[in-house]
Amino acid sequence: MADFIPVNEPLLDGNEKRYLAECIDTGWISSEGPFVQRFEQAFAARMGRKHGIAVTNGTAALDAAVAALGIGPGDEVILPTFTIISCILQIVRAGATPVLVDSDPLTWNLDVTQIETKITPRTKAILVVHL
Ligand SMILES: Cc1ncc(COP(=O)(O)O)c(C=O)c1O
Repeated sequence: MADFIPVNEPLLDGNEKRYLAECIDTGWISSEGPFVQRFEQAFAARMGRKHGIAVTNGTAALDAAVAALGIGPGDEVILPTFTIISCILQIVRAGATPVLVDSDPLTWNLDVTQIETKITPRTKAILVVHL
């Protein structure tokens, strides 16, 4: 087995198996269901918002965020060099320009000391990825 440093590992030490079995037993395996509603409500409460909307994956969430912020042609979005391609793809798909900032060698996150030099009048957002 190859040696590598994992970026993250799944945390499955709770009720995941039981909840998964409940989804299969009740037939709620797609689109809507009690777990989706619970997640949306809990997430909204955690964020201090009235509503939370669940989507199928991180890529779809980024797509929705870019659209909700009205990011489009002529806009620039600052983001770290070390992230998944989905982050850049949603910016490019909206017609905006990704502006990369190098990553901090200790945290692997966006090097905040370099952000200011990348800000222009066209900067619409800073996409902070927490590794
Ligand atoms: C920072 C980040 N953004 C977006 C994604 C895309 O998420 P998904 O694979 O669920 O579409 C990932 C996936 O690992 C991610 O790590």
